[in-house]
Amino acid sequence: AAIRLADYTPPAWRVSDVVLEFDLGIDSSEVTAHLTLRSEVDAPLRLDGEGLELLSIAVDGTPLDPGRWRHTDHVLEVSGMRDGSVLTTRVRVQPAANTALEGLYLSGSREAGFLLTQCEAEGFRHITFFPDRPDVLARYTVTLRADKARFPVLLAGGNPDGAGELPDGRHWARFVDPHPKPCYLFALVAGRLEKIERDYVTAEGRAVKLVIWSEANAIDSCHYAMDALEHSMRWDEQAYGRSYDLDVFHVVATHDFNMGAMENKGLNIFNAKYLLADPDTTTDDEYKGVEAVVAHEYFHNWSGNRVTCRDWFQLSLKEGLTVFREQQFSADMNSPSLKRIEDVALLRRAQFPEDAGPLAHPVRPAEYREINNFYTATVYEKGAELVRMLAGRLGTEGFRRGMDRYFADNDGRAATLEDFLGALGAANGIDLMPYLAWYGQSGTPRLRARGRYDEGAQRYTLTLSQHTPPSASQPDKHAVPIPVKLALFDRDGNMLPLHLDGEACGTETVVVLDASERSFTFERIPHAPVPSLLRGFSAPVLLECGYAPAELALLLTHDPDGFNRWEAGQQLAARAFDDCRTGGAEALDAWSSALRQLFVEPGLDAALLADLLTPPGEIELAERQEAVDPAQIHELRQVMQRRLGRVIGAEALERRYRELYAPGPPALDAAGKARRRLQRRVLELLALVAVDTAHALADAQYRSASGMTDRLAALGVLVRGGAAEATDALADFRRRHADNPLAMDKWFAVQAQIPGEPALGRVQALEQDPAFTLKNPNRARALLGTFASGNPSGFHRADGAGYRLLAERLATLDSLNPQIAARLATAFNGWQRLEPVRREMARQALSDLAGRPGLSRNLSEIVASVLSR
Ligand code: ARG
Ligand code: ZN
Repeated sequence: AAIRLADYTPPAWRVSDVVLEFDLGIDSSEVTAHLTLRSEVDAPLRLDGEGLELLSIAVDGTPLDPGRWRHTDHVLEVSGMRDGSVLTTRVRVQPAANTALEGLYLSGSREAGFLLTQCEAEGFRHITFFPDRPDVLARYTVTLRADKARFPVLLAGGNPDGAGELPDGRHWARFVDPHPKPCYLFALVAGRLEKIERDYVTAEGRAVKLVIWSEANAIDSCHYAMDALEHSMRWDEQAYGRSYDLDVFHVVATHDFNMGAMENKGLNIFNAKYLLADPDTTTDDEYKGVEAVVAHEYFHNWSGNRVTCRDWFQLSLKEGLTVFREQQFSADMNSPSLKRIEDVALLRRAQFPEDAGPLAHPVRPAEYREINNFYTATVYEKGAELVRMLAGRLGTEGFRRGMDRYFADNDGRAATLEDFLGALGAANGIDLMPYLAWYGQSGTPRLRARGRYDEGAQRYTLTLSQHTPPSASQPDKHAVPIPVKLALFDRDGNMLPLHLDGEACGTETVVVLDASERSFTFERIPHAPVPSLLRGFSAPVLLECGYAPAELALLLTHDPDGFNRWEAGQQLAARAFDDCRTGGAEALDAWSSALRQLFVEPGLDAALLADLLTPPGEIELAERQEAVDPAQIHELRQVMQRRLGRVIGAEALERRYRELYAPGPPALDAAGKARRRLQRRVLELLALVAVDTAHALADAQYRSASGMTDRLAALGVLVRGGAAEATDALADFRRRHADNPLAMDKWFAVQAQIPGEPALGRVQALEQDPAFTLKNPNRARALLGTFASGNPSGFHRADGAGYRLLAERLATLDSLNPQIAARLATAFNGWQRLEPVRREMARQALSDLAGRPGLSRNLSEIVASVLSR
């Protein structure tokens, strides 16, 4: 049964106060909940609860007459409740048996592991009976009791409110959270953990203790996250005027986590991958990931916790907004253009394919069966793009004014996207409701641009039109407002002054396409210009503009803005790819010679150059094609890169590689990261034109590397290139990092990336490795996720064996952890556009999987959706 946005009704019963008591144990934990219930209507109370063994039930201290309650599948119904009554339930749950990692579960081994919770979206109902929906906000008092030797550390969200000893070697600790919150923000942690601490004083003068917890062997890897946390807190005060609001802020790392991290009030819990960092085991990109996710979770304290969501259809209200806030933060901490490149590349790799296939859904979905399936690139990344458009529309000050208004009007409330657009608009006297169209409609709009130059009138007319392809549930798509930031370049690569509607508007301006077609006329243009459109990627659309390759090459070499340069290069590279397919030469020549020129341009940032030298990935290239043959795409992409390597020249590449070599421990500053990024790219290109030299250099780099970035880059070149040296390097890596799960994940992942037919055999062999387990989400993702979603030419074998392997594993994984199974199953997205042989193989594997009995709601929803259409 689908749940629909249109069916929303406010809760009949609310909860003002929650008093929870936990008697914690690995196999069995008991939970007592006292709920103060509030209602104005005379309706039966219905509470959610799954997998709970009900031990007792009472109202206002008196055991409840069996005639007054009914415990059916997933619901506890109580009749005759009065406003203000306190319902007390006692239940038992089994943490160690919880392999779904939702609710209360065990991380690590029975002997050494610790207990923790994950509630978003609907995990709280696996802990106690409760109206498990985000619009029920309550004050929480939580008491934890456990054996002191086994669980020396006891944590819950909120401020500490006492602790002490109990008989029989047990102890207790209490936490009170003064801020009303929905139950998905509840959390507890109990076990043997170490900590690092830092004192922080907020802009409002509140003294806060920041504490990061991990298992003992990782505690030295928490310092970078602590710095990131402090930077995030300061940044939110400065950029948004938002300060932290409790006396303590706890952060905990776990190796057993279904997602990246979770913003539980006062007690953030992180997948270790996004918290632990040290140069020997963490790559530069992963460092960025830690900084970004620490910031993301911290920013949720306002965008998510203080202002939460009315229902899960509004998920992007907190996620899109928080991703956008994190993007701004990361841009401020590092390089804005590199950050924008990274985010747009992610959008195209992850969100565009989602929006173009059977899993497409609006940023605010209209219905779902399993909400965990909607923590998607569309809700997160496209949602962030929509906030970016609004922010661009209002300008820095206007957006801040609007956000102040949003927080002021909705603090302590469960809000909607209408509340958000309403507040931003009201604070600025602008009607932003037309932007709601973006939230309600799936699919990536196509933006067409045509320019006409009138020499006599010295006029340039730009005609923009839009079209969103229909989808099954939305056959008629509407026009959406598309802000197009643009500049005009002359043939020497200089930006022209713009005059629009009789007004001078500098060299860069924004026009908004707010209908299906509009024209904009620029005056006093002395020559036919080259338009630079959608600058900064001002809207999440696909641009169709009939550029000549030379025009894109001009933008690639001359645009002063790093992002726009990259963007022109990406478009040109896509055209060069088409040339490789069709035997053309114009774009391929333009692309490779422009890059040869940039390769020696003095002063060009090394990290930007590395990105410029990287064409769109195989997934993105496949999106532009019908009858997709992933093996051919891989091959042609290699061909175009080899061409680039030859044009730059093997000698120039090798020389540059050696210049970039820097002995000694890795410098973690921007220059160090940029150097390593470019060095890796140069080595990869060299491997395509002088394979023996490149492998010898990679082998030497592997041996001498003192940090993970260089070590893994070298290993990747050897492994993906099928070098003889790869075997020893892999054995060495394994010996060196056997005790570090995050490093071992990389060992699995790099091998799952071997291109083409051999990948499958390698994956099967690695499944037999003693270090492999389906029970750990990070490990399953590292091997199976990388193979299925990160290695198109390996997964999409023409004989269908890749599809059958994945389908088999999904069935097994589903009985352990439905969320992870469903997530990995999205690798099948896009199968309808494969060439006929693969398409039939994929369809067969999918329909076999769909026919298996007992699939979870999570996996069956994804499989059914992917199969449809
Ligand atoms: N709210 C978390 C975040 O920071 C993610 C929670 C994901 N939950 C899920 N069931 N997939 O983005
Ligand atoms: Zn989030």
